[in-house]
Amino acid sequence: PQKALVDQFGRTITYVRISVTDRCDFRCVYCMSEDMEFLPRQQVLSLEEIGRIARIFRELGVEKIRLTGGEPLVRKGIVKLVEDIGGLGLDDLAMTTNGSQLPHMAHDLKTAGMDRLNISLDSLDAEKFRSITRTGDLNKVIRGIDTAVEAGFKGIKLNSVIMKNRNDHEVLDLVEFARSRGIDISFIEEMPLGEISDHTRDETFCSSDEVREIIEQRYDLIPSTADTGGPSRYFRMPDSQSKIGFISPHTHNFCGDCNRVRLTVEGRLLLCLGNEHSKDLKGLMRRYPEDDEPIREAIISAMDLKPKEHHFTTDGDVQILRFMNMTGG
Ligand code: GTP
Ligand code: 5AD
Ligand code: SF4
Repeated sequence: PQKALVDQFGRTITYVRISVTDRCDFRCVYCMSEDMEFLPRQQVLSLEEIGRIARIFRELGVEKIRLTGGEPLVRKGIVKLVEDIGGLGLDDLAMTTNGSQLPHMAHDLKTAGMDRLNISLDSLDAEKFRSITRTGDLNKVIRGIDTAVEAGFKGIKLNSVIMKNRNDHEVLDLVEFARSRGIDISFIEEMPLGEISDHTRDETFCSSDEVREIIEQRYDLIPSTADTGGPSRYFRMPDSQSKIGFISPHTHNFCGDCNRVRLTVEGRLLLCLGNEHSKDLKGLMRRYPEDDEPIREAIISAMDLKPKEHHFTTDGDVQILRFMNMTGG
């Protein structure tokens, strides 16, 4: 590794989140519109291009890569990509998934070198689950989670986006579920990305403090030092190995510690989830198939574009037109 990636505000970038597909078998209400249109193949990075970028980032000092989507497991050839990236010698290789393909893929992912999985789970009621994901099958996802637990990953974390009058009454059930499997769970405040159709975000907004109060009716939450360098603030309970995280983009800004950048499915290096500052890498890669130097230089100079923070509000206005499935959050 040569020169580290440092931005204008002194933040060192050691973590890259790569969206490997914009496609998904679910249509979660907070992520996509019902009639979501996906990108034509040509506009999406090939697996070779993704592997190449991952290697270049590794050479620039990146220690952690998370594959996201859309749903990363619906991309053909994904296990081979995991194997290739797994061979780069990262400290941590992770994936964020909706879990639907895990019943048949969890073991292969583990063998290919995947360290950690984050699995979305917003409800334990099959009908509710269907209404939030629009197309998802709860039983499949639960089987997926159980198969992943069995496969023995270094870490598994559930993600729940909590919405008022939709799933806020399930917070304790979700905590119980995580405890029963010995895995972690993060509760997430919804962010205003993409023009979605199904619900009004200002009416369903539920703050992390409200979620925390619900949990504290049953459990003492002890601040935990566990730190992924990410936005999650972790707590533990006295009688369980499961940790509880809160991701609170609205009520606890975490931008000062940001250690990450994103690669969109179209090969755009995005410097912040809540802003559009970016640098196109796909064009450069296609122009210089044999020479990594221009790409390396572009990445280094793009660090100057990283904005100080995001400015999300909870008034229901969409601030970023880009849908979540272009970057995986
Ligand atoms: P690690 O930090 O790798 O442990 O995982 P994570 O929990 O950050 O990642 P995951 O993909 O599971 O995302 C969980 C939630 O955090 C999603 O709603 C993401 O959109 C959100 N998130 C992750 N990183 C950022 C960030 O830099 N800014 C904002 N605003 N949200 C983020
Ligand atoms: N706000 C917050 N979290 C979101 N996710 C998807 N869309 C949003 C949004 N608008 C979550 C998913 C998944 C993770 C990648 O991001 O639930 O767990
Ligand atoms: Fe698919 Fe994840 Fe978006 Fe849900 S949040 S539609 S599972 S990409």
